[in-house]
Parts: sequence; structure tokens; C-alpha cells
Amino acid sequence: RPPAPRLRRLVVLRAASVSAVAEESAAARGRLECLSQVAGVLGTQWGDEGKGKLVDILAQRFDVVARCQGGANAGHTIYNSEGKKFSLHLVPSGILNENTQCVIGNGAVVHLPGFFKEIDGLESNGVSCKGRILVSDRAHLLFDFHQVVDGLREVELGNSFIGTTKRGIGPCYSNKVIRNGLRVSDLRHMDTFGAKLNTLLKDAAMRFKGFEYSSKTLKEEVEKYEKFAERLGPYITDTVHFMNESILQKKKILVEGGQATMLDIDFGTYPFVTSSSPSAGGICTGLGIAPRTLGDIIGVVKAYTTRVGSGPFPTELLGKTGDLLRASGMEFGTTTGRPRRCGWLDIVALRYCCQINGFSSLNLTKLDVLTGLKEIKLGTSYCTEDGKAIESFPADLDILEQTKVKYEALPGWEEDISSVRDYDDLPETARLYVERIEELVGIPVHYIGVGPGRDALIYK
Ligand code: GTP
Repeated sequence: RPPAPRLRRLVVLRAASVSAVAEESAAARGRLECLSQVAGVLGTQWGDEGKGKLVDILAQRFDVVARCQGGANAGHTIYNSEGKKFSLHLVPSGILNENTQCVIGNGAVVHLPGFFKEIDGLESNGVSCKGRILVSDRAHLLFDFHQVVDGLREVELGNSFIGTTKRGIGPCYSNKVIRNGLRVSDLRHMDTFGAKLNTLLKDAAMRFKGFEYSSKTLKEEVEKYEKFAERLGPYITDTVHFMNESILQKKKILVEGGQATMLDIDFGTYPFVTSSSPSAGGICTGLGIAPRTLGDIIGVVKAYTTRVGSGPFPTELLGKTGDLLRASGMEFGTTTGRPRRCGWLDIVALRYCCQINGFSSLNLTKLDVLTGLKEIKLGTSYCTEDGKAIESFPADLDILEQTKVKYEALPGWEEDISSVRDYDDLPETARLYVERIEELVGIPVHYIGVGPGRDALIYK
């Protein structure tokens, strides 16, 4: 006997959703299985693009996930398969996948109190870390005093402050570059550790009026690091050797970028940048692996633009639309809680970023946040105040501050897209938006984020 009409509809719906899941995973498999042995995920804007989610998804297929630059100034937010939220700062996102080994490379800076706090938090939530996190013996140590100096420097800059996260990242890299920094390997020589730290503290005290320390505070700090040295022992690794051996052993390696190209010390909007290289070049220098080992580099780009802190932002929206994006995109920093500045997607900056990194594909995130907007704009070109075209992304911030942006307006969509998993099920106008971006930058969008959850991703 055929099922009653209502029941029959349910049966049909169920069959349709089962086949949709099968199709979706086939699409996902298609994308994920062909990724190169060494792949990278990098931010394309001013950070917070949602790199953590893609890294977390990809990590399931990689043996090693590595961080090559930055410190606890990154703030990836990821969810495990039970939907539990984890905010990671220094530990690579691969930590939630128990078969993955996580590397903190030589290009990163490590604040040990923060690192152990993160590990304690993970372990108390059932995520085991011992033996799974390898910390480079060449990575630099970031001390509490670097954070104090970070704050003092911002105060000193007055109205021209950078808007750093005050995590001490810049001062730590400064010590690295002027060659008096302490590295993880120095923890193996606690007999000379105190004297080296004293030199750094003395320098800081000479440089900054408000900075003080005493022999008592130095002694206490050294004692603290003696304990850290013991606890960190099992984590300390020659990661350059490990990475290159892993490549020879054909292990799959995923490099997780922090921050983004527009914050790159060389290519970003200097001086409103971070102190490391979050672009493709930083992968090689920050891990000690050769350029020819790199394969797919995926650029993560938010469907609009956000920026934290000071610095030029040509497509910034200061009115209602900007507020709307901030509210619906929950644009507040994971690490600091600071509200993010919001604006339209800047194609000129994105093209520049694509040139620098040579992306194989893009992950467009937070497309769902644009739902409900009548019109969506893309900043497609820059010109001077008197209308003269600016051909490339300007190094000169004065020019950038005065840049006029030419926009292309596209129609928006009303439909909730957060449960869409098949590209063809997106509203036509949403597809038009994605395809116009692909056309303007010349790089395919292979992944589209439609919600914060791990599953809220369309494989195109
Ligand atoms: P940084 O390294 O600090 O730049 O971090 P990130 O790039 O990983 O960004 P972050 O973790 O701050 O992610 C931004 C937020 O967006 C997180 O809360 C994510 O869960 C969320 N998110 C990621 N993808 C999507 C998406 O497609 N839609 C929505 N609505 N939220 C998303």
C-alpha cells in the first residue's frame, strides 16, 4: 500500500536530503582530496577572515598543521564536531583533530604563560596536547615585559598609535631583528638566561620612561622560566628538521596563516601592520621549507572587509550599513573584543594580495552576513581626488588616505542562505556576486562560508 499523502511527502523529502548529503560530501571530497602535499591557508585582508574554520576542516586530511609567523595576536575561533567553541591564539587549529601534529615554527613568537594557559584550557576540555605540539627551538620568547613595552609605545605615539593588540608581538620581533632576543633554545641554558634577560630589561628601562624593574623582579621572572623550561622540555623540537623530514616522508602539511597580507610587514599598510610576514613568503622563512615544496595556497577573503585598529581603509562604511555588517557579522575581536571597522569588499586590495601570494583558490567567508542587503558594492578601482586612475595598490599612506574608490553595485538577496550546501541552491544574485569576484580577481572561489559552523561551507 502506498504511504498516506503526508507521509509520502516526508519520504520524498528524506530521500532528497540523503542524496543532497551524498552529493555535498562528494563535492567536498573532490576539493579536499586533490590538495597538494604542502598547502597553506592565508588571510587576504586585514585579518579575521575566518581562516580558522577552513584550517580546521582541512586539518582532518593533513598529518601536520603548522604556524609560521605571529604569536598569540591571532584569534582563530573554531567549533569541534559537537559544536563546542574553541578560541585559539597560538596553538594551531589542527589541535582538535587527534591524529594531527601541530607545529609552532621558527617564525613565530611564543609567550609561554599564554601558551600553557591555552594548553590547560584545551586539556581540561578533553583535547590532549602532549606529544602533539612541537615548538621550534628557533622561535623567539615573548616575555610579559614585551607586552608592557607594547603599551608604552602606543601611548608614546599619541594620536598616531598603531592599534596593536598590546600582546607584545612587535617589541618581541624588534628584539629578534636587533639580535638580542631570547629563543626557545635558550631555555636549555638557564645558567645564562638571567643575564640575557637582564640586558633586554635594561634596554627597555633606558628606552621607556615608565618602564621599571628591579633585581627582585628579574629573579622572580627567571624562576618562573626555570619552571617553564622544565614543562616545555617535551615540546621543544628542531622543527626545521621535523618539517623537512615530514616532507620526505610524504606527510601532508597544512600551513595556517595568522593575520593577513594587508598587515604584512612589507606589503601591508605600513606602519599599521603586524611585525611578521603573513604572506606566502613567510611560509618558507617561518618554517625553513623550500619554496618549491609549496603547492596549493588558499586565500581566505571575507565577503566584505573588516579592519581592527588604525590605518587607511578605502572602502570603509562609516554609516548604517557598516553598523549593520558589524552587528550581523559579529565583528568584534576574538582576542581583544574590540569592534572591527567594516566596509565593502575591496577588489583593488584583493588583486594586489593575489599577486603577492599566487593563490590557487579562494575561500569566500561570511556570505550569509550580506543576506538582506538590497544592494552590495564591490570597490573595483581607485582614483585620485581629481579622477586620475591609480593603477596599483599605493605604498604611500597619504595617497591611500585620499584615494577615491569606484564601486560596482550588485543586487542583494533576501533568502536565508545559512543552510545551503550546494552552490546551485544559492540565490541567483548571490551566485552573481561570487562569480563577479572570481572574474575581477581571476582566481576561482572553491569554498564559500555561509555560517560559523564547521558544516556551513559550500564546495564549489
Ligand atoms: P585571525 O587569525 O585573527 O585573522 O582569525 P580568523 O581569520 O580565523 O578569524 P576569526 O576566528 O576571528 O573568525 C571570524 C569569525 O567568523 C569566527 O567567529 C568564525 O566562527 C566566524 N565565521 C567563519 N566563517 C564564517 C561564515 O562563513 N559565516 C559566518 N556567519 N561566520 C563565520
